[in-house]
Amino acid sequence: MTEGPVPEEAKALIDEAVERARDAMDRAYAPYSGFAVGAAIVANGQIFTGQNIENASYPVSVCAERNAVGRMIDAGERRIDVVAVVTAAESPTPPCGACRQVLWEFGPEALVVAETTGGERIMWALEDLLPSAFGPDDLGR
Ligand code: THU
Repeated sequence: MTEGPVPEEAKALIDEAVERARDAMDRAYAPYSGFAVGAAIVANGQIFTGQNIENASYPVSVCAERNAVGRMIDAGERRIDVVAVVTAAESPTPPCGACRQVLWEFGPEALVVAETTGGERIMWALEDLLPSAFGPDDLGR
């Protein structure tokens, strides 16, 4: 979990991202798992949302976070500041391993905020969720 105080201005943006993720969750296409996920990325002061989109061919389903990354990239943004994830689970849902790797590419310093529809919130630094990550640096980029 992250430590230390979060500035007021950042708090407002985080709250807005959580709200947008909650809204995006309602548009999830998750008929197989029944587990709807909404995500919202804050990048350069803008918010990009996504939701999980499942498929009858289960492995090609795509998580909410990665769909939000696609929206951000399409808008020309490359730097993730915050990722909010909302589910109706009993406890906050952290991003899966594949999503952590994709988020790392664009936000090694990103803050990850997971909240339940019941209002329970957990925050982590992405680097704590993906220690010793393989990334662009390892390819000399
Ligand atoms: N899921 C996400 O959208 N994000 C995550 O980080 C965890 C899992 C989705 C994938 C699948 O559609 C459903 O949740 C159940 O695994």
